[in-house]
Amino acid sequence: MRWDRFRSLLRTRRLGRDLRPLETVDSTSEELKRLLAQEPAVLVVVADRQTAGRGRGANAWFSPPGENLTFSLSIEATGMEEKEIPLVSAAAAVALHRALSPLVSGVLTIKWPNDIYLNGRKLAGILSEIVRDAAGAPWVVMGIGLNVGTQTFPPELAGKATSLRIEEGRTFDREELLATILDEIEAAAARIMSGEKAGLLDEYRGRCSLWGRRVSVDGIPGTMEGISPRGGLLLRLEGGELREILAGSVELEP
Ligand code: BTN
Repeated sequence: MRWDRFRSLLRTRRLGRDLRPLETVDSTSEELKRLLAQEPAVLVVVADRQTAGRGRGANAWFSPPGENLTFSLSIEATGMEEKEIPLVSAAAAVALHRALSPLVSGVLTIKWPNDIYLNGRKLAGILSEIVRDAAGAPWVVMGIGLNVGTQTFPPELAGKATSLRIEEGRTFDREELLATILDEIEAAAARIMSGEKAGLLDEYRGRCSLWGRRVSVDGIPGTMEGISPRGGLLLRLEGGELREILAGSVELEP
């Protein structure tokens, strides 16, 4: 990638100013954790190629070299409780949605908890973890994969995953995308830190799909009724009980 160009486009105060671009790495999140163990800092690790890119659960993250954006960033989490991580990921989903919506003509939505869908297919995913630096201070390591230029997906992903290139029929500037996304993430994180959680969640709700839809979350069927104040999914179970689900994977019921 053209890093001089990226730096000239970046408008953030801190995020992305310390950037660690790599050609190949096992996983940007694993590399970031190794770096944090040595020097606690707000870092962004970007790689053109991951040999062991991870998705949520046991999934691998498919991203052919040089076509997309795969990066991880560290956010200081001092004072943040573990149960607040979903909120940080929700903020990042809002940030991604904000960064991308002016650029696309298709239907862009957040699918709980923090997937970005374009025209009903997955465009981007976020994987957040909490880790401790050498001094024991907590950090959120957030890994983001955004499909920018991939034109063909392997059979197991075809129909489920997509890219900006496929849906919009044109190429996108990865440097500009990354600079805009980091700018939005910094702004969203600042909103959380300044206590503006409710406003951020309202924005999340507005950008979210699945309202009133029949879904199943890790096999539990129900109707998606809302998003709780801590970013959980409110699922109305078939027996009538309203359950808050803090982590899980949602499938649309036919
Ligand atoms: C998901 O399954 O939706 C989360 C995908 C997260 C993928 C990104 S790519 C950059 C970072 N490094 C990884 O190994 N995973 C995340």
